[in-house]
Amino acid sequence: MYIISPSILSCDFSKLGQQVIETGATKAEYIHIDVMDGMFVPNITIGPCVVASLRPHSKLIFDTHLMINEPIRYIDEFRKAGSDIITVHVEACSDVEATLKKIRESGAKAGLSIKPRTDPEVIRPYLPLCDMILVMTVEPGFGGQSFMHEAVENVKKVKQMLDEAGLQIAIEVDGGITPETIGFTAEAGATIFVAGSAVYKKPDIAKAVEDLLAACEK
Ligand code: DX5
Ligand code: ZN
Repeated sequence: MYIISPSILSCDFSKLGQQVIETGATKAEYIHIDVMDGMFVPNITIGPCVVASLRPHSKLIFDTHLMINEPIRYIDEFRKAGSDIITVHVEACSDVEATLKKIRESGAKAGLSIKPRTDPEVIRPYLPLCDMILVMTVEPGFGGQSFMHEAVENVKKVKQMLDEAGLQIAIEVDGGITPETIGFTAEAGATIFVAGSAVYKKPDIAKAVEDLLAACEK
């Protein structure tokens, strides 16, 4: 019922392939790929060529989080590179509907994300076009930040909106997720959990994933 999506942003990039292979031997089902453009967020990270290089080395679901302006421009490239889920930010799209439709047309699952200070109401019209909602629990841009407790309210609001619309769409949370914080988000309705530092900064990543899963049930 609960899925851990380790974020490779916290990997040692000189060993990225090896760490992705090792992640395949854990209880993680997804792998989270943070794409940043230095415009929508201050940081710059990974492009489609990295996704394509990793694809032959992993059977995990490639959960691609696009923190880029006008992501509609890059959907086909990420899909071709091997992304299974493509998530875009509502704040980054001038045409949210067209962007989500393009993701689905590409054959990927469509995710829509909100930053912690975005009113969840803004995504209500787009819910039927989504396969996943990503509620950020830090300001996007960097790994290793502290969990924003106030964002738990956003998870609850999204869950309520989905229930009201009769939609069974998974809620993912991302940012500052640890065994200490994951339970708050699970209780609020999240079922997919991104974790960077709480997996890759630990000595035993398989145990780190198990610790997160165990903490969901608390
Ligand atoms: C932040 C990214 C996150 C980040 C999470 O903008 O979207 O996916 O890698 O890292 P942790 O789990 O360390 O907060
Ligand atoms: Zn992310």
